[in-house]
Amino acid sequence: MTARSEIRFILNDRDITLDRVSASDTLLDFLRIDRRLMGTKEGCAEGDCGACTVLVGRLEHGVLRYIPVNACIRLTASLDGCHVVSVEYLSGENGKLHPVQQAMVDHHGSQCGFCTPGFVMSMYALWMENPAPTETEIESALQGNLCRCTGYEPIIKAAKAATGMGSPANDALTLERDAMTEKLGALQDGRRVVVSSGNSRCILPASVDDMADVLVETPDATIVAGATDVGLWVTKFLKDISPVVFLGHLDELREITVTNEAIRMGAGVSYTDSRAAMVADYPHLGPFWDRIAGWQIRSMGTIGGNVANGSPIGDTPPVLIALGATITLRKGAVRREMPIADFFVDYGKQDRAPGEFLESISVPRPTTGALHAAYKISKRRDEDISSVCAAFNITVKSGKITTACIAFGGMAATPKRAAHAEAALVGADWSEATLLNAAACLGDDFKPLTDWRASAEYRLQVSKNLFRRFWLEHQNDGAVVRLSA
Ligand SMILES: Cc1cc2nc3c(=O)[nH]c(=O)nc-3n(C[C@H](O)[C@H](O)[C@H](O)COP(=O)(O)OP(=O)(O)OC[C@H]3O[C@@H](n4cnc5c(N)ncnc54)[C@H](O)[C@@H]3O)c2cc1C
Ligand code: FES
Ligand code: FES
Repeated sequence: MTARSEIRFILNDRDITLDRVSASDTLLDFLRIDRRLMGTKEGCAEGDCGACTVLVGRLEHGVLRYIPVNACIRLTASLDGCHVVSVEYLSGENGKLHPVQQAMVDHHGSQCGFCTPGFVMSMYALWMENPAPTETEIESALQGNLCRCTGYEPIIKAAKAATGMGSPANDALTLERDAMTEKLGALQDGRRVVVSSGNSRCILPASVDDMADVLVETPDATIVAGATDVGLWVTKFLKDISPVVFLGHLDELREITVTNEAIRMGAGVSYTDSRAAMVADYPHLGPFWDRIAGWQIRSMGTIGGNVANGSPIGDTPPVLIALGATITLRKGAVRREMPIADFFVDYGKQDRAPGEFLESISVPRPTTGALHAAYKISKRRDEDISSVCAAFNITVKSGKITTACIAFGGMAATPKRAAHAEAALVGADWSEATLLNAAACLGDDFKPLTDWRASAEYRLQVSKNLFRRFWLEHQNDGAVVRLSA
């Protein structure tokens, strides 16, 4: 079957077909420059401020699902088969405001107004998904939106008030759902898509097998999943990322399978979708997962991207290392499996060959007697990258520590286990003295850097303190005294 050479999607109520798309074209530029839809704003162009929030709907195993995304880092070519909803689509006949917009007016949620369309879109996504949210759920939904003027209180009030205004059942996206599902279904023709502009080339494989073939043919291609890292290479570093191979549309890579032994997640599973599976087995990860970025980035960013980029300050690698996860890499038809800890070779260097890609991640199910914790230390509580991240997995039997796997982020050139500290724990009594003795070994495990996030001294000290915190939380044989994550 020949490849299709155009991408097709729906913007609000318009069918869009583009036969010239560059790898670095963003949805935000398409909306503002190409379509002159100025409601969607550009604040930071790096996924931080939320002023560019839009909804993107696509069929997942035939079911239409909308997620909030940052248009500034969403690459246009990845929209094939999607429905993009911008703020212009919200108001009704004769400009009648949508309930979430009216609530913002009623509660003075807008001052200069620059952030308002982005807040409105996140509130809209929440209003559709969870019509009666708690205040915590509202705060979580708005983590990825920044406002310099209001102090947030009026916006939270508006979001609460919106719950009693209108009904999602009568909303346009609900009423047109069946028709939209049919339209998007018709756009999915099962073909590989190759779309170009000048020398720039974007490839959307037809399936995971097809992706494996494409990468063997084009081993130096940039793999793009959620683009929450790669999007910034484009907008901040003006990097030429062509040719690009997209994987975000491949349902096979978004599957989660739970067996007696493991939780297996495809590399394209988003942070949001991985949360439920992980928290069901490891409840301590709930508050930790909620501190990864904001709702938009959690909806876009994938667990595979977080591992594959090899960042020393990615949040999920220390957790996955501590839990003993394995990964499957694939090149053509050949797969290899390895402990995730071995994947991180050095700063910016992972054990991945050209043409190879990360296919899945398997996390063992919990064992009895294991005590867990995951901690994120960052300057801001919300929407911030870790200065230090730590994950503990310690087994205690009859008062003795029998196993210890403790991994840190932000302490070395890669996410890394604390081997000396672990050795000091295994075989020792379960006691405060043991934990503090192990903490004292961290200086042998890590020589952290000083950078603008934290000094070397701070990193080492806070890491030691986390051992004490782990003890305080778990001292009563797992009767957890929860502090905040
Ligand atoms: C505003 C903002 C806040 C953020 N906050 C956090 C945070 O709190 N914690 C955190 O850990 N990260 C954070 N990030 C970083 C980012 O969200 C993560 O690293 C994310 O997991 C990357 O996933 P992605 O799907 O977007 O990857 P992409 O950007 O698509 O790709 C990232 C890298 O992985 C490669 N890649 C992707 N998938 C595969 C695959 N299957 N096989 C091989 N290579 C692959 C790409 O080629 C690229 O090198 C934040 C980013 C932004 C913009
Ligand atoms: S412009 Fe700030 S998140 Fe997109
Ligand atoms: S109202 Fe001015 S930035 Fe929010």
